[in-house]
Amino acid sequence: MVSLSLLSLSATFSRSRLHFIPRLSLPSSLSSVRRTTRRNGPPARLSSSWPPPSCPPLDSHSFGSSTSRNSSSSVPCGGAAVADGDDLVVLGIETSCDDTAAAVVRGDGQILSQVVSSQADLLVLYGGVAPKVAEAAHAEAIDQVVEEALSKANLTARDLSAVAVTIGPGLSLCLRVGVRKARNIAGLFCKPIVGVHHMEAHALVARIVQQDLQFPFLALLISGGHNLLILARSLGQYVQLGTTIDDAIGEAYDKTAKWLGLDLRTSGGPAIEKLALEGDAESVKFSTPMKQHKDCNFSYAGLKTQVRLAIESRNINAQIPISSATTQDRSDRADIAASFQRVAVLHLEERCERAIVWAMEMEPSLKYLVVSGGVASNKYVRSRLDQVVKRKSLELVCPPPSLCTDNGVMIAWTGIEHFRMGRFDPPPPADEPEDAMPKKDDICWFVPQYDLRPRWPLGEEHVKGRSEARSLRTARLHPSLTSIIQESLQKQS
Ligand code: KG4
Ligand code: ZN
Repeated sequence: MVSLSLLSLSATFSRSRLHFIPRLSLPSSLSSVRRTTRRNGPPARLSSSWPPPSCPPLDSHSFGSSTSRNSSSSVPCGGAAVADGDDLVVLGIETSCDDTAAAVVRGDGQILSQVVSSQADLLVLYGGVAPKVAEAAHAEAIDQVVEEALSKANLTARDLSAVAVTIGPGLSLCLRVGVRKARNIAGLFCKPIVGVHHMEAHALVARIVQQDLQFPFLALLISGGHNLLILARSLGQYVQLGTTIDDAIGEAYDKTAKWLGLDLRTSGGPAIEKLALEGDAESVKFSTPMKQHKDCNFSYAGLKTQVRLAIESRNINAQIPISSATTQDRSDRADIAASFQRVAVLHLEERCERAIVWAMEMEPSLKYLVVSGGVASNKYVRSRLDQVVKRKSLELVCPPPSLCTDNGVMIAWTGIEHFRMGRFDPPPPADEPEDAMPKKDDICWFVPQYDLRPRWPLGEEHVKGRSEARSLRTARLHPSLTSIIQESLQKQS
């Protein structure tokens, strides 16, 4: 583990990119459009004040991030914000992987602030995400990132309606840092807390940018750790049409970039995208994964191996950075980058075509394909998938790159969506002891006081999408978000 001196605050921030994204205005009709389109579950319960008249009963699979139940009545809540519908103001905190992010978003979708501190230099140093290093970097950055998000929004924590935080899936050591911060603020300022599913947030952020994006919609979520095709039927109700049986596409981009000796400071994906523009995408004959499987699942491990072999056969030396490569060497690397990207994306295209057919069988009114997650920032990915949806007479919704890669806005927004439905936990006690958190070496899964969900499926698998290879790996999975919500709805009715 790196020493903390290496990660001193000033060093962290001099090498980090801290973004502030200006306010994004939305037509005020947005939230009312959404409210009228909810199809399943109880009508939206807009929290008009905290504490709300009646908290939804919390069962053992509480939606949110905490299982402390006794705090709502025991904590004096004098300073809490009173908010109604669009006036909700939620702080979102994200630390599930390698970016420390926070943002403040209003109930009408206005982004009041967005701050991201990336660990790009650490990724270069360690050749990927090292959980303990990432945890230390989050711990160094979190206070300043949150403080900056609040100050750019011209708010204090007292003004918030709620705090939303990613509780899974992700690296438990990293999730813990964000959850501890969120609970600390929520406890001190007596704010309700919403535990957010990271992949749901990647999908729902599209509803901030596309005002008429209503349920149901299909979502392709492509990032470093996930490759999901999801039918979103209503808030919290997701059918998983496909997932990866091994690696995600972002992982394949990152490894290809590393093996090609590219500059990884902006992460592997953008480096491959740029180099691919110089190459011939037909020059290296990679085969498309899973051609024989007529389902919507993905596999990128085999393509990674094909790329590695192609690199070895051309004697490309990753130790020689691309900036120092000869003209021929650079051209070989560009050909591999372009050929890899063509096939990696072709795999997405084929799976999306099939997923649209499956989704239309379940939801004939389907109009949109949402593509989100870090890899959705890629222009080639967007343009190829745009052609797929046009052939199927659908519309593509792709958030801007700053909302595709990990960010606090998507967490705040997802928090708002669930908060409106009454899905949140009461404020934790102001004096919650730190040891309510799992100890460093605990497996968070088994610690009852604190609910982190490192392996947390979003929805239930579609019957046609089951894969034997994957079902072997389901041990220690948390029940899916959709099953938790369904169970709690059944208890309420
Ligand atoms: O969603 P994200 O920010 O974090 C995770 O949840 O994993 O996604 C990160 C992934 C990385 O693998 C990164 O290389 C990839 O998204 N990525 C891209 C691009 N920008 C980010 N991949 C391809 N092209 C891009 N322009
Ligand atoms: Zn992500």
